[in-house]
Amino acid sequence: MPRILEVNGLRAGYGMFSVLHDVSFQVDEGEMVALIGSNGAGKTTTLRCVCGLIPSKSGTIAFRGQEYRAPVTHELVAAGLVCVPEGRELFPGLSVKDALLVGGANKRARGSRQKNLQQVYDLFPKLRDRQSQLCSTLSGGEQQMVAIGRALMAMPSLLLLDEPSLGLAPTIVKQLFETISLIREQGVSILLVEQNVRTVLRIADRAYVMENGSIEMEGSAEVLANDPTVVDAYFGVGSKESV
Ligand SMILES: Nc1ncnc2c1ncn2[C@@H]1O[C@H](COP(=O)(O)OP(=O)(O)OP(=O)(O)O)[C@@H](O)[C@H]1O
Ligand SMILES: [Mg+2]
Repeated sequence: MPRILEVNGLRAGYGMFSVLHDVSFQVDEGEMVALIGSNGAGKTTTLRCVCGLIPSKSGTIAFRGQEYRAPVTHELVAAGLVCVPEGRELFPGLSVKDALLVGGANKRARGSRQKNLQQVYDLFPKLRDRQSQLCSTLSGGEQQMVAIGRALMAMPSLLLLDEPSLGLAPTIVKQLFETISLIREQGVSILLVEQNVRTVLRIADRAYVMENGSIEMEGSAEVLANDPTVVDAYFGVGSKESV
């Protein structure tokens, strides 16, 4: 399988504060890869760097074979790398439909916006029913659907998701993970940051464990799900979800 994303020796932080120390990982075409780790480990910082939202101090990011030393978010989106950030970041004043259409504004996706909108509605039928509703009045689960739908409108080949299940009820989380698996089956590669470690290791192909800004472990999701260190550290309170 060809590499869709290759990150090598990434170092980054905020001002003088170093967060990522020599982070390297890969995602192959068609794979779902999970990035797990404790609070403050550097997962969001990693995704922000890969998406061009914060600069890296050193290291390289290659997407579909092209190296980006200082990635610019809109260029990455145009190339097919799209991020669903932590906390969703929707425009509260927009209707569901308009928020989705904004996601498909890039040159590559614009021509097929109406078709893509219908595909997003097929994936999340609830959004079709609520297309005129303001995003600010949606439930947390519905907002997450809009955030993912908006990213899909950009026609990604690689989707980066930062804690999509945060704050959602277990039944909604279950549906959400089923939908994420479906998106992967439709040919989109996925890099998924999640606190629901037990669940995510069930649906991912491979995973990386990050602690203190470094990758501490990596392997197939199945092997990591049975690794005593992972079980002790991450299958505790908070990840004993019923899904
Ligand atoms: N904007 C910021 N300015 C300064 N420090 C930050 C900023 N954002 C994050 N940090 C710090 O960087 C470190 C890594 O944070 P990050 O958000 O990447 O962790 P995380 O693995 O995503 O954690 P969580 O599971 O809680 O979301 C933390 O110590 C955090 O306090
Ligand atoms: Mg985070």
